[in-house]
Amino acid sequence: MSKLQIAIHDHRDALGQAAARIAAEALRAACDRSKAATLVVATGSSQFEVLAALRAVPSIPWDRITIFHLDEYVGLDAGHPASFRRFLHDRFIDLLPTAPAAFHELQGTAVDPLAECARLAALVPAAAFDVSLIGIGENAHLAFNDPPADFAGEEPYHVVTLDDDCRKQQVGEGWFPSLVAVPTQAISMSVRRILASRLIVCSVPDARKAEAVRNSVEGSITSAVPASILQTHPNCHLLLDRESASLLKRPESVVS
Ligand code: GLP
Repeated sequence: MSKLQIAIHDHRDALGQAAARIAAEALRAACDRSKAATLVVATGSSQFEVLAALRAVPSIPWDRITIFHLDEYVGLDAGHPASFRRFLHDRFIDLLPTAPAAFHELQGTAVDPLAECARLAALVPAAAFDVSLIGIGENAHLAFNDPPADFAGEEPYHVVTLDDDCRKQQVGEGWFPSLVAVPTQAISMSVRRILASRLIVCSVPDARKAEAVRNSVEGSITSAVPASILQTHPNCHLLLDRESASLLKRPESVVS
């Protein structure tokens, strides 16, 4: 039975505020408990309001928080408008009131992407991450794990091939001018490593995501719908807006 904690918000700003509150509370608790915390950050339009709200929450001890990067295109320069490193620096890391303990960004332009995966693998903690902020793609991907996603791979990061639906989404959101401009490969955190998080805050606004949300929440757990694996996580908050929740048969709660 699904353990997802689902909330449906009136608009994406409220969704972002709620996601930030949940994440901030867990980060503070982790810092109180063990003097330090780990946070995974995603990119994409779903994270605009979440990251803006989180960096504005007062009294988060960022200097004790180590930040990991969920995914990045292979071969895309850090200065490209669609670069996730650029996204995270411009919208979050460089705007924090205090520098984080560390930000382990993925170098998508590394000469050897597999070696880059290995470099990051040596940096991730043996224990679960304290908080992971993620989204769900139009094709129900988690990070850049497109269907059929590998649910079994043990390595923290791997090189993946992006499917056409995923690449079309990036054009549709305006990050690239055409499909051929979208890289075909990425470095992505693996599904198993994402699940190895004490708390997952999954933020999914927008009507474009309604079908992926319905399949992930009400369908069976299958690699054809990567985000369906979230049903197995013991502490995953799924934050929706009315549009992304519009195809659900049984909306569990309406928060604001
Ligand atoms: C994107 C990013 C991920 C993100 C997910 C949802 O393409 N690779 O970091 O979690 O897929 O993003 P979006 O909000 O653009 O749908």
